[in-house]
Amino acid sequence: MTWNPDQYHRFAEERARPFWDLIGLIETDPPIERAVDLGCGSGELTAEAARRLGVSKMLGLDSSQQMLAAAGKQDDGRTTFAVGDLSTWSDDGAVDLVLAAASLQWVPDHVDVLARWTASLAAGGQLAVQVPDNGVHPSHQIATELGQVEPFRSAMEGDVPVDPTVANVLEPQEYAETLFELGYERQLVRLQVYGPVLDSTKDVAEWMRGTSLTRYFARLPEALHEPLVDEYRHRVVAQLGDRSPYYFAFRRILFWGRRPG
Ligand SMILES: C[S@@+](CC[C@H](N)C(=O)[O-])C[C@H]1O[C@@H](n2cnc3c(N)ncnc32)[C@H](O)[C@@H]1O
Repeated sequence: MTWNPDQYHRFAEERARPFWDLIGLIETDPPIERAVDLGCGSGELTAEAARRLGVSKMLGLDSSQQMLAAAGKQDDGRTTFAVGDLSTWSDDGAVDLVLAAASLQWVPDHVDVLARWTASLAAGGQLAVQVPDNGVHPSHQIATELGQVEPFRSAMEGDVPVDPTVANVLEPQEYAETLFELGYERQLVRLQVYGPVLDSTKDVAEWMRGTSLTRYFARLPEALHEPLVDEYRHRVVAQLGDRSPYYFAFRRILFWGRRPG
């Protein structure tokens, strides 16, 4: 995937809201010694969460070298960063908090991944996850259509990536059932609609350029990146209208669980 920290930061405030709502679910008694933030991105939120939660040692893990290059600037002794894949990450069972915000959707087999994360938790450990669940929104459906549009389709040589939020994200009740099966004593799962207000419908393209469209950038030559975004913007405006401002209704699933102490 091609992640660009500058592009991701364009809507930093709007993207931070669900992150802090998730952090608000985490309990800090007893104090959290070891925590991991899987898919930490550029790390500002990771380091700030470690400070606010009073975590002794926080590890931010991400598979993107570009994101981690930005994250290195947040390395303050309390929080450190490393390259790694959240789908295979595991620990020896001494982690007090596994946090994953807007990252788990990129990988399949959530039940297996959550089982691995759970086995990494100490007694009384907590899991806190947030995933976008906006596959039903026109912004995502138009992104999916683009995979079949020329010249992009041919340039990907038949390897057209699917929308990860559609392919990988489970229903809220399935996360609740999974947490129960994995032995979480207490849990909370909620579907929440966030409504970032964008300057205009055209800005949906700028938002998606930093997230969902990255799946195409990873497979297309650079010369086709801007034409893809232009085509996407054109289709969004044609379907949703040229509205200013634009209320971008965005579904997310937040879930939290705590293991028996
Ligand atoms: C949308 S950003 C979220 C960043 C941050 N957690 C936040 O809430 O703003 C998704 C991050 O997940 C990372 N990511 C995607 N797939 C991953 C994987 N398999 N392993 C580790 N990180 C991954 C990306 O590199 C990117 O930095």
